[in-house]
Amino acid sequence: MLKLGIIGTNWITQQFVEAAEETKSFKLSRVYSRTEAKAKTFADKFKADDVRLSTDLDEFFASEDFEVVYIASPNSLHFEQAKQAVLNGKNVIVEKPSTSNIHEFAELEEIAKAKSVFVLEAARHIQEPIFKKISDFVDRNRADVSGATLSYMKYSSRYDDYLDSQNPNVFSTDFSGGALYDLGVYAVYDAVVLFGQPDAVNYDAEILSSGVDGSGSLTLKYDDFDVNIIVGKTKNSFMPSEIYFGKRTLLFDSAGDITKIQASDEKKHITDIPADKSDNPMDSEAVEFARIINQNDQTTYKQLMKYARIVNHVLEQARMNAGIVFKADKEK
Ligand SMILES: NC(=O)c1ccc[n+]([C@@H]2O[C@H](COP(=O)([O-])OP(=O)(O)OC[C@H]3O[C@@H](n4cnc5c(N)ncnc54)[C@H](OP(=O)(O)O)[C@@H]3O)[C@@H](O)[C@H]2O)c1
Repeated sequence: MLKLGIIGTNWITQQFVEAAEETKSFKLSRVYSRTEAKAKTFADKFKADDVRLSTDLDEFFASEDFEVVYIASPNSLHFEQAKQAVLNGKNVIVEKPSTSNIHEFAELEEIAKAKSVFVLEAARHIQEPIFKKISDFVDRNRADVSGATLSYMKYSSRYDDYLDSQNPNVFSTDFSGGALYDLGVYAVYDAVVLFGQPDAVNYDAEILSSGVDGSGSLTLKYDDFDVNIIVGKTKNSFMPSEIYFGKRTLLFDSAGDITKIQASDEKKHITDIPADKSDNPMDSEAVEFARIINQNDQTTYKQLMKYARIVNHVLEQARMNAGIVFKADKEK
């Protein structure tokens, strides 16, 4: 049983701990929050008397009662928290994107290697069986790929807070926020896992007055096709995502929350492709991360690390291209 510590007490951490405990491979052991009350409220959700609470990060990481930490704090905090975890010998599961820039990524990767611990970037959707259906389809038809349009644009309730001058983390350069780093990362993962590293990146973003991108259009250029990505947190899109194979098309309902896949043949007849979908979208990554850690599966780990490295590079290239500067960039 892997004992689990958590940082961040928002709904996403609850969803992850539910998925993790469901695997029977993880057991929540320690909760970090900036306030004792929030740590206790979180721990109480799991009705476990033996869960310990911390409000001090040094004390949290020094404790011996967990070996894996799940980090779901604002993006800009991931790097320092993951680094501290690694230096204390903990394995890390860190929400996407794991770092704010490629300097942080390189340093984190290096110290994780030196300390022989895992740092797993929680790109939940690429572990889901429904995504594997898409990647199998692409692999079988790789020679015919002629492009893709990936879409992930959802009006965020935090945009209302932003408009109300409440400065939510996800719309702040101080916290490495914005549409690309929050939602675009899913579509970039799709492209990198399905097609590899792009040759060139171009990001046309609508920049908000806080300095982050509210929405944008990202183009990833490959040898013989383009992947166009539509991303946003300031409007709702119902556009499907599509991968083109000449006259044939593979359609799915979202670049990040995939629930339905269809294929259109050369005569434009559309058929559903059946695929399993778990109620909790974090189930598959929880199972896979436990397996990788328990079996010390270095082959899969290296592959996931490679994806994460490329994704973090692409995000930074796109950001630089659009002139988006994070506070973390100035601190490097
Ligand atoms: N995989 C997914 O499906 C998914 C979905 C949503 C979010 N995410 C990722 O999860 C991460 C957290 O997102 P979120 O929307 O939950 O972020 P958030 O609400 O801004 O913050 C998450 C937690 O971090 C702590 N925190 C907030 N502000 C902080 C500050 N200024 N300094 C230190 N700690 C602070 C809070 O915990 P305490 O008050 O208890 O300290 C809070 O519950 C992000 O990386 C996001 O991309 C992933």
